[in-house]
Amino acid sequence: MAGSKNLLGIFMLQIMLVGLFSSHADGQGLKVGFYEKSCPQAEAIVSKVISDVMSVAPSLSGPLLRMHFHDCFIRGCDGSVLLDSPNGQSEKFSPPNLSLRGFNIIDRVKLALEKACPDVVSCADVVALVARDVTVATKGPHWEVETGRRDGNVSLIGDPISPGTGLPSFSANITVLKQSFALRGLSAKDLVVLSGGHTIGMSHCSSFESRLYNFTGKGDTDPTMDPNYIARLKLKCKPRDQTTLAELDPGSFKTFDDSYYRLVTKRRGLLESDAALLNDPETRAYLVQAISHGSTFFKDFGVSMVNMGRIGVLTGSQGEVRKVCTKTN
Ligand code: HEM
Repeated sequence: MAGSKNLLGIFMLQIMLVGLFSSHADGQGLKVGFYEKSCPQAEAIVSKVISDVMSVAPSLSGPLLRMHFHDCFIRGCDGSVLLDSPNGQSEKFSPPNLSLRGFNIIDRVKLALEKACPDVVSCADVVALVARDVTVATKGPHWEVETGRRDGNVSLIGDPISPGTGLPSFSANITVLKQSFALRGLSAKDLVVLSGGHTIGMSHCSSFESRLYNFTGKGDTDPTMDPNYIARLKLKCKPRDQTTLAELDPGSFKTFDDSYYRLVTKRRGLLESDAALLNDPETRAYLVQAISHGSTFFKDFGVSMVNMGRIGVLTGSQGEVRKVCTKTN
């Protein structure tokens, strides 16, 4: 009896948590070409600014793709990650977001949009469109981005690290990762497909240091990681190094391709969360599929990005369209 009460409690909690993220989990109110009439040049303006930026600062592709993930997973895709707060108490000051870069690029895109069509295009949509354009700029897939998101007015430093509902940690195991995605209406397939975003960009050594030096607190290494790879990473990353960066997908970290999956299957995924994808039959099968002839990774990535872009969106008369992405109106 006590057991069934517990189960009921867990079930109720899950329903409450899903409610937190799913004001429009199905993306109701979003559509491709939302600005067709109100600002026909909107998407071309975003693409032009991003292509200019990529020609001088291609290393911003990773952070700008990651930004959409960090926005959508906390309070839904509502631009809350962009807000400043006078006393540093908004999401962007939370530990997982301290390694985000490119906020000034979002501001630059928004400025160009405000010049052409004042008060029309939301910051949340800018983040979604930029994520697509940096993927294309790194030779990845193109997909149609649904737009029509509105911007939220709340951004709290504690949300990204809130147990159970914050951003998944780099050390999360497969169960926790799947739960984190399921809470937001995303499947195990979305998890393995979107983790493929790690085909571009860099990670701080501190995000995987324990795998090299102190996995279980006994000065040991992560037994699931290729020992040759560990030896190589140790040359780059010394203990307690807070500044050095390592490529998530060495050899092709500037190119959006399938080599991330090749690495993970060879036990060379950089983060524990990457390696964890080997520990579930469905995600493991996908890793193999993604590197086979006839891989559907590029097409799947577009589909899963659209799914992620629907999380908890504000639409219609909800929220607002910010004039400046760092401030509520
Ligand atoms: C599955 C759960 C995920 C976890 C635990 C995770 C964790 C991380 C961590 C720890 C880093 C390195 C940060 C640093 O040390 O500087 C990183 C980088 C990155 N992540 Fe993820 N991530 C996840 C999912 C995603 C998703 C869904 C995307 C986008 C589709 C994404 C895109 C990226 C990119 C592009 C970078 C490189 C950023 C840069 O170059 O600065 N990640 N991620």
